Amino acid sequence: MKTFEYILIKSACIIGLMLHISSSTLDAQINKKTHLALTPPMGWNSWNTFRCDGLNEQLVKDMADIISTNGMKEAGYVFVNLDDCWQIGRYPDGRIMIDSARFPSGIKALADYVHSKGLKLGIYSDAGLMTCAKKPGSFSYEDIDAQTYAEWGVDYLKYDFCNLPMTLNQSPENKETAPVIRTAMKGPPNYTAQQIYLPMAEALGKVDRDIVFSVCNWGVQEPWKWAGDISHLWRTTPDIRPYFKGFSVKYLYFMSIMEIVNRTHNDSLHLYAAPGRWNDPDMLEVGNGKLTYDENVAHFSMWSMMAAPLLAGNDLRNMSPEVLKILTNKAVIAVDQDTLGKQGYKVSEIDGVQIWLKPLSGSRWAVCFLNPKGKKSITTDWQFLKSAETFQAKDVWQDVELKTNAASTIEIPKHGVRLFVLER
Ligand code: GLA
Repeated sequence: MKTFEYILIKSACIIGLMLHISSSTLDAQINKKTHLALTPPMGWNSWNTFRCDGLNEQLVKDMADIISTNGMKEAGYVFVNLDDCWQIGRYPDGRIMIDSARFPSGIKALADYVHSKGLKLGIYSDAGLMTCAKKPGSFSYEDIDAQTYAEWGVDYLKYDFCNLPMTLNQSPENKETAPVIRTAMKGPPNYTAQQIYLPMAEALGKVDRDIVFSVCNWGVQEPWKWAGDISHLWRTTPDIRPYFKGFSVKYLYFMSIMEIVNRTHNDSLHLYAAPGRWNDPDMLEVGNGKLTYDENVAHFSMWSMMAAPLLAGNDLRNMSPEVLKILTNKAVIAVDQDTLGKQGYKVSEIDGVQIWLKPLSGSRWAVCFLNPKGKKSITTDWQFLKSAETFQAKDVWQDVELKTNAASTIEIPKHGVRLFVLER
């Protein structure tokens, strides 16, 4: 192409993009469906185990079959969520094209199947031109995509942040908070992360279907401060990996379980969670990688303390009875799903053991002792409760009951937790 033509086309594209975003931001009518996700969403998502290549229709049907028969549905797991790679292109009229080699019956038929099991279907797209796996994104197709999802019977949308056709406004009040942004950073300047999410929020508000909106921008520009008005949950960190403490090399895009827990504390994220507005420290790695029993228990317990979405990310077809038992521990799930909707926070530390407290309905508390180090025995006087009352403290993983009117010695395994529910 001649240089002049190229410049002409490029300028037209840029002007088009600027008009597109500014028309949606200046007079955005966000009609957030506030009756959704009053407790953190629970379900399964394909990404952590199957990535791009493993995703297909049969896999999703298998997962729906399993969740509806193995006790997970009764425990509260309801969403079956496709992540990246179900989409392959666009038709001339702008409608998204399903990868028919992976999904020969189409997404509508899959949604019908999942619904017939009493479950809900989730889907994935991206605010940019392409998804993180370089499939078509929804930029400038928000309305038609939201409409299509609604027609198909989709119940949940995870919306990513890769390959944006604009730059981020990084003025001091919009500073970048994630370690790295995987985005093109070309094109029109100065859009905030919030503005980039508005067109899809607006589009979902217009469709006649309840679709939970999950913002996935890895914590860029502190979504906990702005995403609650336009979505039901927002990612707070880069992607989780199945490691408890860290990696042998430093990754920029990935975080371990303890790195996510520590970031949640350092950024006081509990201040922003409420029914219909959840921090999302990413999907579960329970049963993945080389996580030990105690690490899986600690991960699941801490995600419940953080009122996180509980989206299993393992291969449910090959999970051990031990992993299923962890994922379906009803007392732990009740901590996560408590209707008060408060997120837990760290109150104290004894000898490296973190003590987290989560207010529960009925004037109860959840208390979690998290041990990132080798096996520990600590003694606590329960003073961190700041209450003159005596509580019965029931361990939700083992048959132990303590009283808080006297000091208790608590043994916590290496990389493990002891999680108690306290009632009067
Ligand atoms: C990003 C998201 C992940 C996953 C992939 C898919 O990395 O943070 O959770 O959705 O994209 O490409």
